[in-house]
Amino acid sequence: MGAFETIIYEKCDGIGHVTLNRPKALNAFSVRMRDDLHEVLSAIKADDEVRVVIIRGAGDKAFCAGADLKEFLTAPSVIQARRIRSLRDLWRLFLSLQQPLIAALHGYVLGSGMEIAMFCDLRIASPDVTFGLPEVGLGILPGAGGTQTLPRIIGLSGALDMLLTGRRLRSQEALAMGLVNRVVPVDRLSQTCNDIALKIVSFDSRAVKGAKQAVYGGMDLTLEQALELEKRIAEIVRL
Ligand code: CAA
Repeated sequence: MGAFETIIYEKCDGIGHVTLNRPKALNAFSVRMRDDLHEVLSAIKADDEVRVVIIRGAGDKAFCAGADLKEFLTAPSVIQARRIRSLRDLWRLFLSLQQPLIAALHGYVLGSGMEIAMFCDLRIASPDVTFGLPEVGLGILPGAGGTQTLPRIIGLSGALDMLLTGRRLRSQEALAMGLVNRVVPVDRLSQTCNDIALKIVSFDSRAVKGAKQAVYGGMDLTLEQALELEKRIAEIVRL
């Protein structure tokens, strides 16, 4: 894998570290970043040495301030259409990863940035985070799954509030609503995510992948079907 223009990728102790790296633009999600992420996530998917992934943003102001508005608002419609299709590919790729993903969140987590965080399995935030999905106020819809992932994570009522009114949440509110798992001091964010990742790495990887698969696979099934799925996966894990 070559070097990337918009992200940094490192691998250490079974952990894949992905850093969104456009700090001067608050790590805005550009077409280039989408392509870079696609490449690195594809590599991670095929790499058994990577047991867990941490995604973070470079700089001290943002995890990601959403789609690159300069690029987005000037893109001709054909390019926009291609972009939306590719975004869909990226979210399918996120969903297809068997390894757990941890989002290390600080500063602004807006639009596509929040959508990336919602594709992660665990969200750990510093106290300074501002979450928001401003898309509807911009005359568009969240283009990377936000209308579907948000209600699955925090429920219908909170999701509609954020989507329809543009309501922003700070870390403690996000914690209370179940959008984040933990809030930790900013100087502990990286270490906490690393500790969680190392704990996951210490577990049997088949059990970890199986648990993730059972949870997501069961969400859209009846309880009876989901229990059947759990049984099948548990048998495979035990083999
Ligand atoms: N796209 C491109 N550049 C961005 C950006 C974005 N989303 N957000 C910030 N930047 C750039 C600014 O243009 C600025 O660059 P310059 O120094 O070259 O002028 C730099 O980052 C720093 O930003 P600010 O000076 O604005 O910083 P601030 O602290 O005053 O404000 C902010 C921070 C409130 C997050 C503000 O930057 C902002 O409102 N950004 C836009 C947020 C947004 O609406 N994102 C799009 C969401 S919609 C989406 O993501 C679409 C989708 O899914 C399809």
